[in-house]
Amino acid sequence: MSAPTSSGQPTGAFAGEAAKTDRIVVEVKNLDAGYLPGINIINSANLVAHKGELIGIIGPNGAGKSTLLKSIFGMVKVRAGEINVNGESIIGLKSDKLVSRGVGFVPQTNNVFPSLTIEENLQMGLYQNPKAYGERLEFVTGIFAELGKRLKQRAGSLSGGERQMVAMSRALMMDPAVLLLDEPSAGLSPVRQDDAFIRVSDINKAGVTIIMVEQNARRCLQICDRGYVLDQGRDAYHGTGRDLLNDPKVIGLYLGSLGQN
Ligand SMILES: Nc1ncnc2c1ncn2[C@@H]1O[C@H](COP(=O)(O)OP(=O)(O)O)[C@@H](O)[C@H]1O
Ligand SMILES: [Mg+2]
Repeated sequence: MSAPTSSGQPTGAFAGEAAKTDRIVVEVKNLDAGYLPGINIINSANLVAHKGELIGIIGPNGAGKSTLLKSIFGMVKVRAGEINVNGESIIGLKSDKLVSRGVGFVPQTNNVFPSLTIEENLQMGLYQNPKAYGERLEFVTGIFAELGKRLKQRAGSLSGGERQMVAMSRALMMDPAVLLLDEPSAGLSPVRQDDAFIRVSDINKAGVTIIMVEQNARRCLQICDRGYVLDQGRDAYHGTGRDLLNDPKVIGLYLGSLGQN
């Protein structure tokens, strides 16, 4: 493990497990948000991500998990409450401003440009800071080595798992303060799902704060530092991944006793 620099940052993609700190990167407070007038999908939700943490969000279908991520990324109308990144409100900002404030978002679907090459997708991720290309490319190919060897390949010709890697890499090009991932394992075969979770862990170990929504609740809680159970738009439970995995109420309501994987 190499020593951290004086700024406390890891020195490279695999500079060892980056220190988790108490500094709050993302704070969602009493958030109400929704699509249609008068109907809140997010109901007084709360969430905190500290620097270096891997946060998991689980919960039933339709609980509002994707809506919560979309609210943070300015795609859903916020009606009340706060969303702060590095201590400043980001409510009402457009996506380019959110990206420059350090918010990286990988939606569940349509998250790559299929007609562009891997390299062009990565360049699109960095359009606000093209000079950093070489350095950021080194960072993402440190995690996704196989992409580095296939930069000229069109993203549309890749498998689902490979596309997910391109999508995450594209968001990582801007060196985000927080990476929002919506169901990175969805639609993948069991082996590819395992790979997706390992890659998410690798990104986090390289120092990136992550908020990940996952339908594979058990697997998500196994790798996250802390988790939130979202139910009907509320943070019904939160705790360390391990505590939630062992909480009888969470098991009974959200994990089920079968299919322990
Ligand atoms: N674009 C939309 N317009 C109106 N309602 C929506 C829209 N997207 C999602 N919803 C509704 O919001 C609720 C939560 O959806 P979602 O956030 O996708 O849940 P989850 O990701 O937890 O499965 C659902 O009732 C869904 O029907
Ligand atoms: Mg969803």
